[in-house]
Amino acid sequence: MGITYHENTHIFHLFTESTSYQILLFQNAYPLHLYWGHRILEDLPASHLETAYRRNTILTQTPIDDPMFSREYLPFEYPCYGTSDFRSPAYQTVDCDGYRITDPRYIRHQILPGKPSMGPLPSSCCESDDEAQTLIITLLDRPHNLQIDLYYTVFPAYDVITRHTEFTNLSDRPIHLTRALSVSLDIKHGPAQMMELCGTALRETHVERRSLGTGMNGFESRRGFSSHQHNPFVALMNEDTTETSGEVFALSLVYSGSFTMQAERDMYGGIRLQSGINPCEFDWLLTSGEKFHTPEALMVYSCCGLERMSLTFHHFLRERIARGRFRFEPRPILLNTWEACYFTFTQESIMTLAKAAAKAGIELLVLDDGWFGRRDNDHSSLGDWYPDHTKLPNGISGLCEEINSLGLQMGLWFEPEMVSPDSALYRAHPDWCIHVPGYPRTQWRHQLVLDLSRKDVCDYLVQSVSSILSSCPIQYVKWDCNRRITEAASELLPAERSGEFFHRYMLGLYDVLQRITSRFPDVLFENCASGGGRFDPAMMCYFSQNWASDNTDAVSRLKIQHGASMVYPPLWITSHISASPNHQLDRPTPMEFRQHVSQPFNLGYELNLLQMSDSELAAVAQQIKTYQQLRPLIQFGDFYRLRSPFDGNETAWMISAEHGRHILVWYYKPYAQAEEAYLGIKLRHLDETAHYRLLDSDQIYSGSTLMYAGLTIDWHNGDHFSQFWHFERIADAAVSTEAVQEESL
Ligand code: DGJ
Repeated sequence: MGITYHENTHIFHLFTESTSYQILLFQNAYPLHLYWGHRILEDLPASHLETAYRRNTILTQTPIDDPMFSREYLPFEYPCYGTSDFRSPAYQTVDCDGYRITDPRYIRHQILPGKPSMGPLPSSCCESDDEAQTLIITLLDRPHNLQIDLYYTVFPAYDVITRHTEFTNLSDRPIHLTRALSVSLDIKHGPAQMMELCGTALRETHVERRSLGTGMNGFESRRGFSSHQHNPFVALMNEDTTETSGEVFALSLVYSGSFTMQAERDMYGGIRLQSGINPCEFDWLLTSGEKFHTPEALMVYSCCGLERMSLTFHHFLRERIARGRFRFEPRPILLNTWEACYFTFTQESIMTLAKAAAKAGIELLVLDDGWFGRRDNDHSSLGDWYPDHTKLPNGISGLCEEINSLGLQMGLWFEPEMVSPDSALYRAHPDWCIHVPGYPRTQWRHQLVLDLSRKDVCDYLVQSVSSILSSCPIQYVKWDCNRRITEAASELLPAERSGEFFHRYMLGLYDVLQRITSRFPDVLFENCASGGGRFDPAMMCYFSQNWASDNTDAVSRLKIQHGASMVYPPLWITSHISASPNHQLDRPTPMEFRQHVSQPFNLGYELNLLQMSDSELAAVAQQIKTYQQLRPLIQFGDFYRLRSPFDGNETAWMISAEHGRHILVWYYKPYAQAEEAYLGIKLRHLDETAHYRLLDSDQIYSGSTLMYAGLTIDWHNGDHFSQFWHFERIADAAVSTEAVQEESL
């Protein structure tokens, strides 16, 4: 498994356990896309290309320098514009004379063990050279001496192929890159639909599936960040693809800035699927000898539906994108003060809450917004990262010491990329925020964004966050980011580099995150951007978990978490049990329903325990004990979606852990319905000949019963019904046939 190149066929064959990807080196000049899909055993015949594009003889027999040669129907691996391919290009350039044409041709290739580093960009990594192989196809545009290296890394055991591109200016004249996507894929017999995760703040990662029309289809972020509106992920499939059947071609971009994701359907039904940095306002000046790396794209093919795609992403993101100590460690159960007290607290009130939290069994207390500068509301103080001594007379270290003395760990909220106009930082450095001289500085939540394309600003961020983190044993940081970028410019960038701003901001942010997370390897960092506004694989390289949404209403969370699970492992998706009625929607929900919605993910609390009755506090303590027992199964098991909240009034999820020994199932029905049909769910991926004991009961079921007859849902009148089952596979000898219950729908 890995990568082969056969001189006789001129085909590069990249293969994982169940996927093949083939590239034809066409007339020793152009790498063409031949195939991506189910694993096949041999190189495809050249006729595959001819049939696909219906231009048999012209296509493959006309020499590329013959006047009859046309690129129009060729499936290029990295297409350019301006000669005879009129579809969307993967990259574009402008040279010193204003010309925009390039014609890069093959000059060499290399196949390397492992995966070369991508420099300052976050990306997947391999732990040993024998678990991945990399193909680098080098193209050269001779008139400009512009070298383009196409990188393909194959992770056979993970069923993932990654791609990115590197540009090198080998000439002595500068050239502008005005578009530089990470990946371009010409998929023959293009699938009919695309699926994305979209929404807005409080309604993130909603699954949307739509038909692909002829011409351009797609979505993008122009907000400077990957955004609540569109996650940098797409899946192409046919109408009949389900969770468990049908082909899926999925891309996920390892990038946190503005991006594009597009699928152009051509006149023959072929799809050109592309993704990368959003070309809107992108213009990168490549001077002599300089290189430019695009972000990495992850490619996942599934021959058996969305479920297989998600499991592939979950394993890969958890093991080869995530870094650091917490990768394989269970995450602590935390209580966050935000919904408990917002900006209104004192050391004393926090300690009263902390005592109640410790009593309930909470493991970590997070002090959210409001602890620094003079921050009594969201109008001021971002940038002034020193404790407000009127609220915390003994500072953060004093509070930390007291919290630790209760046996609780302490966490702290920061929003380091931002500055309030009403802050000491802004008064000292009004030029440090992103702005265009002479124009108003658009505020959002009364704040501006610091210019992270500047080294001095990045250094300040590292120093200001580090000084708090080194002052006491803070064990967790919530890194927030509550606005988007406007007036995108930096005073330090020369005019000819102004189009580099957005990407330079991201490079600055990645550098800051790299420096801080490597300096504090024992701190667990959680990513947040008004909830899920920057929820992407690149952030997983620095953060061990992600606040999926500021909407903590349990009914809304069904859709948000279901959608997020398409790509992201449940371990990375934090889910907090909050008050009823809920603060965002004012909807009351029973405690058990809230518990069941948060339980299959990374559990936390967003509750004022001091306002709760003794019985509610006892329920919280019991929930924590239960979660602690289930935690290794939930956080490191395989997650399956049995029923979708996007299809109706029911949701069901399942986790299979310890090689199928433990099966956890959750069922939800938010709204009561009169004269309801029979309700039941069928489990998946059990051993049909094995037997499973339903814990806390003496019922035993065969795997075949659970999968084919299914579980009957209890009858319940009233809204917000949920049910949970925990099955454990039992050794055959322990099964007494009389005990086996044959349940059916
Ligand atoms: C937005 C976050 O998503 C919330 O959880 C909270 O931390 C607030 N910011 C604090 O300002």
